[in-house]
Amino acid sequence: MSQARDPAVVELRDVRLNFEDKEVLEGVSLRVETLDRLVIMGQSGSGKSTILRLILGILPPTEGEVFFKQFEISRLRRRKLQHIRTQMGMVYQYSALLSSRTVRDNVALPLEELTHKTRAEIDQSVDQKLEMVGMLDVKEQMPSELSGGMRKRVSLARALVMEPELILFDEPSAGLDPVISSVIDELIISLTEQSKVTSVIVTHEMDSAFRIGTRMAMLYQGKIIEQGTPEEMQRSENPVVAQFLSGSTEGPILEGSQDAIATK
Ligand SMILES: Nc1ncnc2c1ncn2[C@@H]1O[C@H](COP(=O)(O)OP(=O)(O)O)[C@@H](O)[C@H]1O
Ligand SMILES: [Mg+2]
Repeated sequence: MSQARDPAVVELRDVRLNFEDKEVLEGVSLRVETLDRLVIMGQSGSGKSTILRLILGILPPTEGEVFFKQFEISRLRRRKLQHIRTQMGMVYQYSALLSSRTVRDNVALPLEELTHKTRAEIDQSVDQKLEMVGMLDVKEQMPSELSGGMRKRVSLARALVMEPELILFDEPSAGLDPVISSVIDELIISLTEQSKVTSVIVTHEMDSAFRIGTRMAMLYQGKIIEQGTPEEMQRSENPVVAQFLSGSTEGPILEGSQDAIATK
C-alpha cells in the first residue's frame, strides 16, 4: 500500500517514453527521497537525459506518472509548472552558459527573470553562490575566458541561485579531465550537503558515480535493472551491472555500445 508514504522529492511511476516508434523508457519506477544524491547510471543513449527532461516537465511521459513532491508534473498548467521549476536547478552536460554574458550575469539570470529582487539583493545572492563554488574573483569575466572546470563551477552557482530543493546534474564530468572531475564531484557533495538540497545525477562514469551517490540506479534497455546503496550495487549479481561496474568487454552488454562503458 503506497498511499501511506510521504511524497518523495521525485517519483516516477511506471514511466514509458516513446520517440515516434522507438521505446526509450519501458516502465521506469524510481523514488528520490529528501537529501538523496541519486545517481542514474547507464550507457550513452540509454535514456538518462530523457529522465531529467521528464522531471523538469520539458517532456511528457507517453505513459505513467512523474511527480515532484505532491505535484504530477505533466498535469500542471503552464504557469504552475513554471513556478514549480523555480524549485529545481539544472546543471547541463556542457555547462550551457550564455557566451555573451559575464559570469555574474549568467548567475544572476534566473533571479532577474523569475523574481522581483532588487539589484542589490541579486548581487548579494550572486556573490554568495560564486563564493561557494570558488569563482567570486572571475565574476566579471566571460565564459570563453574560463576553463571547462571553471565553467562547470559557474553553472553550479547558477543552479543554486534560486535556492532550489532539487538539483539535476547531466553528466557533470563530461569533457573534464579525471583530476578536475573528482574536484567537481567533491564540490557537488559539499554543496548539496551544505545547501541541504536533494539531487539526481546522471552519468556513465563509474568512478564519479561511486564518489557522489548515496543511492544508485542502473538503467538498461529501458528499465531500471538494479537500484540500491553503492554497497548493494557493488554486490549485485546482475551480470549487466557487474559488467558495467567493471568496464569489462566480456558480458551481456552488446558490441557497438562498449564505447559507453567507462574504464578507468
Ligand atoms: N527529441 C528526440 N527525438 C527522438 N529521439 C530522441 C530525442 N531525444 C533523445 N532521443 C533518443 O532517445 C534515446 C535516449 O536519449 P538520451 O536520453 O539523450 O540518452 P542518454 O542521456 O542516456 O545518452 C537515444 O536513442 C536518443 O537518440
Ligand atoms: Mg545524455
